[in-house]
Amino acid sequence: MAMLSASLSGPKSAASYSSPHFSGLRRLCSKLDSNTSHSFLRHFNSQLRVSSLRKPSRNVVAMAGTGTFFVGGNWKCNGTKESITKLVSDLNDAKLEADVDVVVAPPFPYIDQVKASLTDRIEISAQNSWVGKGGAFTGEISVEQLKDIGCKWVILGHSERRHIIGENNEFIGKKAAYALSQGLGVVACIGELLEEREAGKTFDVCFEQLKAFADAVPSWENIVIAYEPVWAIGTGKVATPLQAQEVHVAVRDWLKKNVSEEVASKTRIIYGGSVNGGNCADLAKQEDIDGFLVGGASLKGLNLQPLSILQHPRKLLLDYVYWPCN
Ligand code: PGA
Repeated sequence: MAMLSASLSGPKSAASYSSPHFSGLRRLCSKLDSNTSHSFLRHFNSQLRVSSLRKPSRNVVAMAGTGTFFVGGNWKCNGTKESITKLVSDLNDAKLEADVDVVVAPPFPYIDQVKASLTDRIEISAQNSWVGKGGAFTGEISVEQLKDIGCKWVILGHSERRHIIGENNEFIGKKAAYALSQGLGVVACIGELLEEREAGKTFDVCFEQLKAFADAVPSWENIVIAYEPVWAIGTGKVATPLQAQEVHVAVRDWLKKNVSEEVASKTRIIYGGSVNGGNCADLAKQEDIDGFLVGGASLKGLNLQPLSILQHPRKLLLDYVYWPCN
């Protein structure tokens, strides 16, 4: 899978976001990068939360907040009854580690089918919701209806809705506030266009999108932020781990300055944009990447590779339990 070419400029003033002290949701241990036994890593993974209470000098992977890695599969406008039956069957057969939240976002017409057939271990997200209570809004789906059919999450602010459908920051913020008020979790997407990155506006764009969420929502408790650079979505041009990490750090810093240190520390910031089995492990090693939102690769079924997991605990978490698939 091609990495984005080095000619892409990084966000302006990235250096100032290099190492905020609160960013350490995880502390990676170089000793664990190699030659570590499978069984130890399995045990190690299950101890993530306990480990976070111990001193960093123990060289453990430590996660603050919920301590739970988040992997979402965004199926977008894809699938048939038949293909979704197969996907669900693969997911039901997978061994899922306890310390990973796994969520799938099927297209609306199939949510009921998925809910009826998928293990309760995996939660269901909608890909959109109406901005308020349902009623005379032709073609829309209300949060109340989503809850009624068993959804726990909704993806809002996805770039395809921003840039193809034309949703703006304020509207998206209101949708998030309403969904949260009714008890749905929100995957709040942000991310810059290629021309915005090249113009050095990555942080400006992301912060503006974040502010619209912050202005509207009463609490960040049920929000997962998905940083998805638009140029990386569905293009095969994945952000390099460092490109992703520098934006995640900046987002966390923004939360610290504009919301609170606690929210900055606890909120999961996941990456999306051409994530697959070949690149997820390197991305996951970055301290501030707390999970993934996976599009295309999440449709290809599972690719469990227990033998490839020996090299790194994050890879164990990813390859063993779930997508992304190459
Ligand atoms: P992709 O999509 O993995 O196909 O790039 C990600 C997304 O849109 O959430």
